[in-house]
Amino acid sequence: FQRQALDGLHILITAGPTQENIDPVRYITNHSSGKMGFALAEAAAEAGARVTLVSGPVHLPTPDRVSRIDVVSARDMLAACEAAMPCDVLIAAAAVADYRPEVVAQHKLKKDPSSGEGMLLQMVRNPDILATIAGRDDRPFSVGFAAETENLLEYASRKLRDKNLDLIVANDVANPSIGFNSEENAITVIDRELQQTSFAQTSKGKIARQLVTLIAERLNKN
Ligand code: C5P
Repeated sequence: FQRQALDGLHILITAGPTQENIDPVRYITNHSSGKMGFALAEAAAEAGARVTLVSGPVHLPTPDRVSRIDVVSARDMLAACEAAMPCDVLIAAAAVADYRPEVVAQHKLKKDPSSGEGMLLQMVRNPDILATIAGRDDRPFSVGFAAETENLLEYASRKLRDKNLDLIVANDVANPSIGFNSEENAITVIDRELQQTSFAQTSKGKIARQLVTLIAERLNKN
């Protein structure tokens, strides 16, 4: 692991889940712990980068020499990322909610006896933070994650293309020992030439250092 591999570069990292409010007391979210994104922020700072970490609600300490911005919703996360631009590298490790409730009720929703046993919540698409930043004229070297439970490499390479990425990190969240909230990970990184690099199961800290090293090598080649 090279301590100066990212010297002088600004690395923007998204981490954690987003929370999408339904009403003043309820929200929709997911199982992301933020561990992988925080481990990446730590590794990038150790490699000499200036790191901006935009994080959804998580229970993790901020790594040394990392500037952290806390956000709640996907739209907040996009605004924080846009405000942090320009950057040399974006690593999007956040598990962003794809949809949010169309309206946030001003008051706590009450059970409605006239609607029987069911209730419908109308949802709308959230912006894609990674695709938005990777689509800008000043786009950074862009790295995404594909957490899948099936057809991992096929879905991951499709995302690489659709979101205009330089690298996509595929991980199999159907495997509980490397999925959401676990201490370890195992990944396959796919580049634009569809060349694959795999890192065997180990701690998220070690995976983060391996990934930061790979990103630094690819930056030097560009
Ligand atoms: O399409 P999918 O959500 O599986 O893509 C995952 C990748 O895209 C991750 O890198 C994630 O951080 C990013 N993403 C995003 N904004 C969204 C949805 C996903 O940045 N609204």
